Amino acid sequence: VAPPRREATFEAAPNIALIKYWGMRDVARGLPYNSSFSVTLDRLRTRTTVRWDPTLPSDRFVLNRAPVAGPAADAVSRFLDLVRAMAKVTDPAQVVSTNNFPEASGLASSASGFAALAGAATASAGLRLSGRDLSRLARLGSGSASRSIFGGFVEWRAGRRPDGRDCYAVPALRASHWPELVDLVLLVGGAPKKEVRSALAMQTTVTTSPAYRARLAAVPKRLARLRSALRRRDPRAFFPLVIEECDEFRHVCETTDPPLDYLTSTSRETLAAIRAFNDARAEPRAAYTHDAGAHVHVFTLRRHERALREKLEAVRGIERILRLRPGPGARRLARAGQA
Ligand code: PMV
Repeated sequence: VAPPRREATFEAAPNIALIKYWGMRDVARGLPYNSSFSVTLDRLRTRTTVRWDPTLPSDRFVLNRAPVAGPAADAVSRFLDLVRAMAKVTDPAQVVSTNNFPEASGLASSASGFAALAGAATASAGLRLSGRDLSRLARLGSGSASRSIFGGFVEWRAGRRPDGRDCYAVPALRASHWPELVDLVLLVGGAPKKEVRSALAMQTTVTTSPAYRARLAAVPKRLARLRSALRRRDPRAFFPLVIEECDEFRHVCETTDPPLDYLTSTSRETLAAIRAFNDARAEPRAAYTHDAGAHVHVFTLRRHERALREKLEAVRGIERILRLRPGPGARRLARAGQA
C-alpha cells in the first residue's frame, strides 16, 4: 500500500484593518497591545500547497513559480518548525505558493500567505485545528494573518494572558452583512518597497512615539463604536470612524523616531479628495484607510460609487482601481493546485 500523501492545499485572502494592529506587548509570542478589526477581502488570494517529504535535504519554498531564498524562506522555515513541533514530525517540507495579485503592488501578502500556510502545513501534517487554534498559529507568522483565517468582518482579540492563550481572531459579522459596502483599492504608482518590516517598525513606534499611549487608551472605545456602526450598517457612524482611526495610525507613524512615512503624494491627494468628497454633502459618503504602504482603500456604498470615481479621476498617479467586497476565510481545497 502506498503511504498517504502528506500534502494539503489551502487558500486565504488578504484583509484590510479598520482598527489597526500596531505594537506588540510580547514580540516573541506575537501578542499585540490592542485588539484590531478587519475585513477579509474577496478576489485576491494566496494558494499554498505543503508537502512533507523525507527525501528533501531541507525545506523548499517556491513563490509564484520561482524558488525563494533569504529572509522570506527563513520565515517560512521557522513557521514550519512550529508545525513540526506540534505534529512531532522532523521531515522537511516543500511549500508552493501563488498569489493572484502582484506582491510588487505592495498589497499585504503576509496575511494571506501565513493564513494559507498555517492551514496547509497543519492539515498536511495530519493535525486538525479549530479556527481559533489556526488563528493563534497564523499570528506567529504575521500578526494580521490571524485575522485572514476568517471571512467577513473579523476581530483579533489582544487578550491579557502572558502565554497568549486568549489572543486570537474571531468572526464578527458575515461577509454578506452589508451588501451596499464596497472597497475600492487604489493602486498607487511608484509606491516604495517597504524598508523596515512592519513587525520592527511598530516596535519603534511603541518606544518612541509620544502619541502612542493616548492611542492605546482610545482604541477600546473606537472598537466598540465600530462594532455598533457596522451592526447597524450606519454610514454616518462608520465612515468617520474609519478615517479617524487611519489618521491616528498615520499620526503615531509620523511621530515615530525616525518617522515612518508610507505614503506618496498620490496617496495624500487621495485622502484629501475623500475628505472633500465628504465635505461636499451633509452626510459622509466614503472613508479612506491604508496600512504600512502607499495604496489606499476607499470604502463607500454602491450608490455613491459613480460620483466617487469621478472625484478620483482628478487624482494623478492612481494606476489601477480594484473593486473588492468582503470575502471568505481560509479554506482547504480538494487536491487542487498541486505542484
Ligand atoms: O501583520 P503585520 O506584521 O504585517 O502587521 C500589519 C500592520 C498593519 O497592516 C499596518 C495593520 C493591521 O492591523 O493589519
